Amino acid sequence: MKSIRDLNLEDRAVFMRLDLNVPIKDGKIKSDARIRAALPTIKHALEQGAKVALASHLGRPKKKSKEDSLEPVGVRLSELLDQEVTFADDCIGDGVKKLVRDMRPGKVVLLENLRFHAAEEKNDPGFAKELAAPYSVYINDAFGSSHRAHASIVGMVKLIEERAAGFLMEAEVKALSRLLEAPAKPFVAVIGGAKVADKVGVLNALLTRVDAICIGGAMAYTFMKARGDDVGASKVEADKAYVAKEILERAASRNVALLLPEDHVVGDRFDENTKVATLGQKNIPAGKLGLDIGPKTRDQFVARLATARTVFWNGPMGVFEWKSCAAGTMGIARALAESSAFTVVGGGDSVAALEAAGVVDKIGHVSTGGGASLELLELGTLPGIEALRGRFAEK
Ligand code: 3PG
Repeated sequence: MKSIRDLNLEDRAVFMRLDLNVPIKDGKIKSDARIRAALPTIKHALEQGAKVALASHLGRPKKKSKEDSLEPVGVRLSELLDQEVTFADDCIGDGVKKLVRDMRPGKVVLLENLRFHAAEEKNDPGFAKELAAPYSVYINDAFGSSHRAHASIVGMVKLIEERAAGFLMEAEVKALSRLLEAPAKPFVAVIGGAKVADKVGVLNALLTRVDAICIGGAMAYTFMKARGDDVGASKVEADKAYVAKEILERAASRNVALLLPEDHVVGDRFDENTKVATLGQKNIPAGKLGLDIGPKTRDQFVARLATARTVFWNGPMGVFEWKSCAAGTMGIARALAESSAFTVVGGGDSVAALEAAGVVDKIGHVSTGGGASLELLELGTLPGIEALRGRFAEK
């Protein structure tokens, strides 16, 4: 995989795929972290005298709409770059071709949401050709989207003369690869979140590398059920019980400590205003549902983390958006911040928890990709990385 550093960008028309999929509410950007993460690569290209077109998706739009327009991102980018960012109201077409042709070196345009064309997600060859037409250099700095074999990530790449990874992509791959290739031991993973289904692949991949896995969040109840515990009215994915059981068995046979909650914060219903209580036992009685790990479990997880030299965390330990159920997730965030291990955190919720705890800068690597970081750990590569290497997966 070539680096943007290896290319001569002077006077070249550069298509730069970024992941500017930021949360926007009522036209206001709620977190500009992904925009900031892309700045070093954009600045480098501009300093080298490139003519830069920035491209991204935003949300999962069914059709063109103001709500999913990247226009507010353009405004923020222009503030952060301290230069004008021209906004193109489409990502393909004669208008874009003319805009790029007439651009001067060191100038930048932001193309409208790639997903306003259904052909983007279909990796449609005709659309990929249109998208690629104006450029002689392709840069992928969209790590968070590189698990999607879409036209802007895969299809167009082979149609452009030169291709390379941006700085963010390089940093993400380097940090996550450190977890796969000879991580310092003990290696402890903390995995949470709502669904077992989303984490099966990564759990199986981690089982061959880690010394311990701490499981919290709603997915823990499916594991508890598989272990034979009472889970009361907690959310359980009945169809995933066998997968959970297999993972428990695999952990035991590999001597990996798999820690599940031994106590809980419970409520009567899934509602922010439900009255919560600490339940000092692992079995949850009928009518109660688990909403966070309890203090004993938190201490056990934190004690494991204190022994670790490598840590990977993905997924909250409870409904941390509710103040009454945030202690478990916040406890993990703080434990990682205090750890001297190489710490890697991926996933929007876990990163939001780090932000809420004010400890983002105390983490070894905070990934901008949720699904992408999990898939990279599971499969060792991503369609977008393969495309940069000249191998073009369909998905
Ligand atoms: C993300 O937010 O995880 C990435 O931008 C990918 O978005 P997607 O899940 O809609 O493809």
